Amino acid sequence: MNALAHAAIDILKENDRGTYTVPTKGLYPFQWNWDSCLTALGQRHFDESRAWTEIETLLANQWPDGMVPHIVFHQPDDGYFPGPDIWATGRPVPTSGITQPAVAGFALRRLFEHAKDRAAAAKRVAALLPKVAAWHRWFYDTRDPAGEGLVAIIHPWESGRDNSIDWDRPFARVPTEGIAPYTRRDTQHADPEHRPTKEQYDRYLWLVEHFRGLGWDNRKLHDASPFRVVDPGFNAILIRSAADLAALAQEMGQFDIAGENQAFANRGVAAMERLWSDAHGQYLCYDRVAGELIDSRSIGGLLAAFAPIPTARAARIADTIAAQASRFGVASHAPDDPRFQAKRYWRGPAWLVVNYMIGDGLARAGLADAAEAITRTSLDLIRISGFAEYYDPHTGEPLGGGRFTWTAAMVLEFLAMEA
Ligand code: DGY
Repeated sequence: MNALAHAAIDILKENDRGTYTVPTKGLYPFQWNWDSCLTALGQRHFDESRAWTEIETLLANQWPDGMVPHIVFHQPDDGYFPGPDIWATGRPVPTSGITQPAVAGFALRRLFEHAKDRAAAAKRVAALLPKVAAWHRWFYDTRDPAGEGLVAIIHPWESGRDNSIDWDRPFARVPTEGIAPYTRRDTQHADPEHRPTKEQYDRYLWLVEHFRGLGWDNRKLHDASPFRVVDPGFNAILIRSAADLAALAQEMGQFDIAGENQAFANRGVAAMERLWSDAHGQYLCYDRVAGELIDSRSIGGLLAAFAPIPTARAARIADTIAAQASRFGVASHAPDDPRFQAKRYWRGPAWLVVNYMIGDGLARAGLADAAEAITRTSLDLIRISGFAEYYDPHTGEPLGGGRFTWTAAMVLEFLAMEA
């Protein structure tokens, strides 16, 4: 095993809290939903059983309605804001009240297919399948009430791309007045210039207070939210997970789950066509409140390659990425857009997890060279700059939190692909 792999494993162990892993000490001291599922992919390289536990812990905190929350607050820590008292969701183990990209179905299939202990894996995956299926059903029931085949996010934090340029227009509809006074903690751990702005935080908090006022009742939240956006990246992850869950369920003899999820995936892929922009060579977000596509060339529209989209679309996405010519991986926003900011969180920096999912999608579409370029430049980034949360895509400068769990996990995955 090489030095990079050793360093990655050290970080995963350091951030391990026994049954779940924190994204990084200080800045994110709890369990985050999509972080955990991607973390398990790193853990599988040195402790398969621990990898299953990571996802089991997350899904043990699923809500009765099927939602899997974006944060599980396993133990108190006032170093993070907004903590459990702000969310006030009333769950036995406190959680936030919104969700995150549904990467669990994909992660389960990956873990299962590569498992060395086949018997243990079959047992563990069989128990998890119905939970992930319930989460997928929850998405299409509550976030696609009109049956369009695509789900909306109702808070930017759900996308994982908190301050993307994609949200600027629809987010402007969310008020900033009337929220309780608060103190941010993120800017005490990371450079404020690399984090979302105060105005964005005011709006994040307004939405949290609004949903809390509605009792976190997911039958009401979608229609009651002034922010409802259909994100192609978010949908691609859900579609890919649905397709992967369908394949797994078929193998496990859970045929109802297989049929339901294959139908979600088929409908989703067909509906994604409405988000395609030929002019931009990528998919775009759709503002469901305004009823219009959002003219913003973010990585969300490239991440769509993670879903089984038509090969011609994937090839066009590969061309778009090549034309952007980022030195390291894929920038989170098109660098030639005047709104691009190389160092500010999701408004330009490169993130290893998204690189990984895009690379995986391109490889599946048969675009091996494009996928290999992503693997190579992602590993270059780590060799030069270490295991940061995100990076300037041109200079490689490490940004945000350090010794970052999912970055380390992705490094183990990239190294395995290179081998
Ligand atoms: C944060 O606190 O920055 C998270 O992205 C919200 O989940």
